[in-house]
Amino acid sequence: MIAPSILSADFARLAEAAQSVKGADWLHVDVMDGHFVPNLTIGLPVVKAILASTEIPVDCHLMIDDPDRWAVGYAEAGAHNVTVHVEAAADPVKLANDIRAAGAKAGLSIKPKTPFEPYVELLSHYDTLLVMSVEPGFGGQEFMVDVLDKVRRARAMVDAGELRVLVEIDGGINADTIEQAAAAGVDCFVAGSAVYGADDPAKAVGVLRDLARS
Ligand code: DX5
Ligand code: ZN
Repeated sequence: MIAPSILSADFARLAEAAQSVKGADWLHVDVMDGHFVPNLTIGLPVVKAILASTEIPVDCHLMIDDPDRWAVGYAEAGAHNVTVHVEAAADPVKLANDIRAAGAKAGLSIKPKTPFEPYVELLSHYDTLLVMSVEPGFGGQEFMVDVLDKVRRARAMVDAGELRVLVEIDGGINADTIEQAAAAGVDCFVAGSAVYGADDPAKAVGVLRDLARS
């Protein structure tokens, strides 16, 4: 699966950005609060406008403090997937239950230096494990190849039936890096600059998907 990240799109034309990636599996929307990460993007009102402008399932990545307070609102608004950071959540089990009760899939994200193993039990309440392959906050950063080890370990546990999540990767995914991420066992690839920096974003999605399958 390919999930274009609108962080690299023209924020004055978000509806067009959503429509320009027909064929994408998810539309990845980065919510940043200027506290959990040193950048500020958009919040619920703008996400609601995006939801109203596209049929593509919206994948909300909340890089915010206190997701326990805010995440459910995104699920209630109609996001397909609401992902919170384990480093920020106070009660991640309750949070996953609340997100699911509001009708969305629940995702748990980990920063590049955070291992997932301490959270395996917790992950039984989640649908997606989002592995960050850059320090969260900005698009266009270099892929951190070291995280692939973690992806391989997660993939092995999923294949062994010890972990039931979809493995998503976010940061620095492009035509040069996607094949190694696919080989490590990623299910869903977020790509911002590689899609919206291309002349034809829809074509870029197709190219990435073909490379991931090859
Ligand atoms: C970064 C965001 C990413 C970002 C990825 O903190 O979570 O979703 O948009 O951008 P690229 O693909 O350009 O690294
Ligand atoms: Zn993201």
